[in-house]
Amino acid sequence: MNHRKWAVITGASSGIGAEFAKQLSADGYDILLVARRQDRLMEVQSSLNGHSEILVCNLAEQQEIRQLTEWIWKNQPVLLINNAGFGKCGEFAQSSVPDSDMIRVNVCAAHDLTLETLRMMEEQGCGNILNVASSAGLLPCGPYMADYYATKAFVTSMTMGIAEELRRKRSPVRIFCLCPGPVDTEFNEVAQVRFSIPGITAEQCVRTAIRGMQRKNVLIVPSALVRTGLFLQKFVPRELVIRIVARSQKRKLASDR
Ligand SMILES: NC(=O)c1ccc[n+]([C@@H]2O[C@H](COP(=O)([O-])OP(=O)(O)OC[C@H]3O[C@@H](n4cnc5c(N)ncnc54)[C@H](OP(=O)(O)O)[C@@H]3O)[C@@H](O)[C@H]2O)c1
Repeated sequence: MNHRKWAVITGASSGIGAEFAKQLSADGYDILLVARRQDRLMEVQSSLNGHSEILVCNLAEQQEIRQLTEWIWKNQPVLLINNAGFGKCGEFAQSSVPDSDMIRVNVCAAHDLTLETLRMMEEQGCGNILNVASSAGLLPCGPYMADYYATKAFVTSMTMGIAEELRRKRSPVRIFCLCPGPVDTEFNEVAQVRFSIPGITAEQCVRTAIRGMQRKNVLIVPSALVRTGLFLQKFVPRELVIRIVARSQKRKLASDR
């Protein structure tokens, strides 16, 4: 019999994932912290008051994802925060083969963890999954960050599709899609970009996400400015939206040189 109320958080070594760990631990969850950097996971763990464990895991590796799904089947978490991910800025033709790690982490790992966890939660009769996509996933595409936008469009589309399947069959399991705009984390450094609009804090982003899940909002966009932008772009021709995004992305590239 499993008496723990586990939340699994991928990408828990920094930014949004580390903040989820803090807020969910304070809410009484036992936390499994997942990422590659053990030292950073230990730092996050030492800041938590409740019970937590660490699983060092490279989600670009199928074998290591399997280790995590085995843990999930064994320990039966009630919440998965599918958050690990990263972006890379630049012209698509200049990207290198290891850049496909982005697809492995942002798409394949997010997909496999959603599938395994959903099956486990349906069997146990309860649970919530939050997939961290991006507002990039709600735009037509993102020139100069083309594969990142495409990975997040996959996560958004997959999650919304699953949510409707679960609603129609009155499943006890729920799935949510978090689509933040800019959030001040290490994301920028990794992606080598500068935001064109001010970022919100990870604390604000996570607080809004948790409230959104409590209110059973499938799609959660944690910033009024980004929500307004996404609403307005529906009235602009698709080609024009793409050109506007391209200009804004290109400016970020130029400002790095
Ligand atoms: N910040 C933003 O503006 C923003 C906006 C929209 C969406 N998002 C999304 O939010 C999520 C969290 O990003 P963040 O902003 O918190 O950035 P961050 O501070 O750079 O955190 C990214 C996390 O992902 C983990 N990660 C990356 N590659 C991994 C791998 N191969 N295996 C396991 N873990 C891996 C990192 O851990 P290790 O390096 O230790 O492995 C880190 O914990 C991402 O999915 C990102 O796309 C961010």
